[in-house]
Amino acid sequence: PVYDLIIRGGRVATTTDVFEADVAISGETIAAIGRGLPAAKREIDARGKLVLPGGVDSHAHIEQLSAAGIMNADTFESATVSAAFGGTTTVIPFAAQHVGMKLPQVVEDYHALAKKGAVIDYAFHMIIADATKETVDEHIPALVKQGHASIKIFMTYDRLKVDDEPLLDILLAARQSGAMLCAHAENHGIIAWMVKRLLAGGYTMPKYHAVSHARVSEAEAFTRLIGMAALIDQPIMIFHVSTAEGAKVIRDSRGQGLKVFAETCPQYLFLTADDLDKPGSEGAKWMCSPPPRTHADQEALWQALSLGDLQTISSDHAPYRYDETGKLRAGPNPNFKQVANGLPGLELRLPLLFDAMVSKGRLGLEKFVELTSTAPAKIYNLHPRKGSIAVGADADIAIWDPNREVTIADEMMHDLTGYTPFAGRKLKGWPVSVLSRGRVVIDGNKCLASAGSGKFLARSGGEAAKPTGRLVADMDPERNFGAQLL
Ligand code: URP
Ligand code: ZN
Ligand code: ZN
Ligand code: ZN
Repeated sequence: PVYDLIIRGGRVATTTDVFEADVAISGETIAAIGRGLPAAKREIDARGKLVLPGGVDSHAHIEQLSAAGIMNADTFESATVSAAFGGTTTVIPFAAQHVGMKLPQVVEDYHALAKKGAVIDYAFHMIIADATKETVDEHIPALVKQGHASIKIFMTYDRLKVDDEPLLDILLAARQSGAMLCAHAENHGIIAWMVKRLLAGGYTMPKYHAVSHARVSEAEAFTRLIGMAALIDQPIMIFHVSTAEGAKVIRDSRGQGLKVFAETCPQYLFLTADDLDKPGSEGAKWMCSPPPRTHADQEALWQALSLGDLQTISSDHAPYRYDETGKLRAGPNPNFKQVANGLPGLELRLPLLFDAMVSKGRLGLEKFVELTSTAPAKIYNLHPRKGSIAVGADADIAIWDPNREVTIADEMMHDLTGYTPFAGRKLKGWPVSVLSRGRVVIDGNKCLASAGSGKFLARSGGEAAKPTGRLVADMDPERNFGAQLL
């Protein structure tokens, strides 16, 4: 059989090996990897390039209502086009319930948006904000069965937060349906109290957003969440770790054999709280939650990535324009509490990390592939279809020019945010062609994919979401007068 396409002569990288090979594609999947493969219908010359699995971005807010009810800047089309330009071929955004909404309707609505717009493949995490009995007993199990095998909860944000007691209900529903539980874990009371004190004192500029998210609010919430997850024996994924203390809580819990996974994001590796300290309201462009911290935290997070305490790096893409529709919705001089939280990040996640990890040599190419593609694909049970260059896998491939130097500018970005917090940075290494299921979706500066060509990826919970099977004493019927609580 003649192959449809061969990517010839590049250096292929996986989490364990880097080797020179041709990659042949038939239809939507990788058909062969080898040297001197026979001619195909079409060839891409990849000599001098790197051939990497497309990125898997497992945390992105797309066409989503914020905590305050603002629609973010991107559509599924603009967000996934920008992701593809940055070498990412799979995204896991959210189907976000707000209080009072029925979860099946929420999931259906986000499906419709993605089906219409997405140019790369996608799955969903279901955000639960309203843990009614119907949501927990009926909707979660039914929707997990339909292929939405991860749930996200917020421990902070006024309109979304889930308190400890309903959180235990959700953890149990996740356990019983075999889903991963992901969390935005920060102590709500500490942040709310800090915000009140800061605003009352007249400290209203964006930089005080970083102060309001006191460091301890992260480690405290991690500890409390991990305790509740251990009680239920439910695996969890802790989103966007920002502090050294938070990373330590995760390391300790993993050392005890708990199934705790964790991610960080480029903003915590490349920005600090000082980036919010700008004249006027400009600092709002760097406002996200949790906020960027210090250089010492950046070092601690790199170390945690290197040790395996943190397994993935996602973007947490949460785009709001720097105008009256987004960050400045409350006016040109908002107090920090009035500013929507979040940064755009789908497009630059991989180039920023490639520059740091491959071009500058921190942790190296195999670890880059692992943290940005293979590990998230495995944790969310999309592997081996996604996240690897292997025979039989989807032909989701990014071809990188390791020598291309690019100075980042707002105008270069393909999302609708209108700015990037990384403008002005010089990066080495850039994805020059990107394939999604064998189709060339990015060719240099052209996007060839049409809106709606991305596919929904139904998935079960998989290995990462399986409980350990070790019950804590409190949940052991033999020690509890026969009470069966799980
Ligand atoms: O600031 C952020 N990260 N906004 C998006 C929502 C969230 O907290 O993940
Ligand atoms: Zn979050
Ligand atoms: Zn805040
Ligand atoms: Zn987020």
